[in-house]
Amino acid sequence: MKKIGKYMLVLFLVMGLVLSVTACGQQDESTEGDKEGAKGEPQEEVVLKVGTEPTFPPFEVLDPKTDKIMGFDIDLIEAIAAESGYKVEVQDLGFDALIPALQSGTIDIIASGMTITDERKEQIDFTAPYINAGLALAVAEGNTDIKSVEDLKGKKVSVQIGTTGAIKAEELKEQGIVKEVKIYDTVDVVMAEVARGTVDASINDLPVTLEYINKGHTEIKIVGDPMTSEEYGFAVAKGKEDLLKKLDDGLKKVIESGKYAELLEKYNLPESSQPK
Ligand code: ARG
Repeated sequence: MKKIGKYMLVLFLVMGLVLSVTACGQQDESTEGDKEGAKGEPQEEVVLKVGTEPTFPPFEVLDPKTDKIMGFDIDLIEAIAAESGYKVEVQDLGFDALIPALQSGTIDIIASGMTITDERKEQIDFTAPYINAGLALAVAEGNTDIKSVEDLKGKKVSVQIGTTGAIKAEELKEQGIVKEVKIYDTVDVVMAEVARGTVDASINDLPVTLEYINKGHTEIKIVGDPMTSEEYGFAVAKGKEDLLKKLDDGLKKVIESGKYAELLEKYNLPESSQPK
């Protein structure tokens, strides 16, 4: 009798285990499956992974108080994602690591003040443009001999790795104008080197250099006219048509609702930043 009792107990335990394992298995299936929440089940929360390089104020920068990445791009992509009921999770990556991360699926979206270029369009897909910007030349406040690109003959220039500014600087070097291009990982260093005088000038996106100056880096100044006219887009991996459409539709809605204009104002960006 005693023995049978023991066997029953073991049997119950095993049955219980089997039941709970299958229950878990089923749960996994229904949550992993499709993010659209078919079968009328309550929709599972979708979190899009957004990659950015956060030394690019006012578009993306680390908030010293919270140590979180904040900025125009972050607010905008959050608002766009919310239009589809999605949330975003922002990751800090090197600027030159963003496209590979998108291609490998480590991230779903690039939101990093990335200029839409033909070269990049061969590797990734862009949304409609969301910002107009251009490259600007910056020099030390006391510098009087560099007033425009023409004065860069024999000069040293700092740029951020993988950017359109870096491409421009290399072009100027090939043309025999710029003497040396110093490439740094982050824009704070690009700016600091100009201030310290280790380089003669930097080539970087105008609204960003302006923000550095306005936020206290008065040892540098912008000279000459913008060197280029560029447009920023959010990017997704090739073949993600659904996601791209959701972002484009979301951007339209965020513009229509007035939220976009609100964000321009919040980050002190002129109305002319909005692409036509
Ligand atoms: N607009 C430039 C480019 O696409 C610079 C972007 C740099 N962005 C950043 N978050 N650091 O190359």
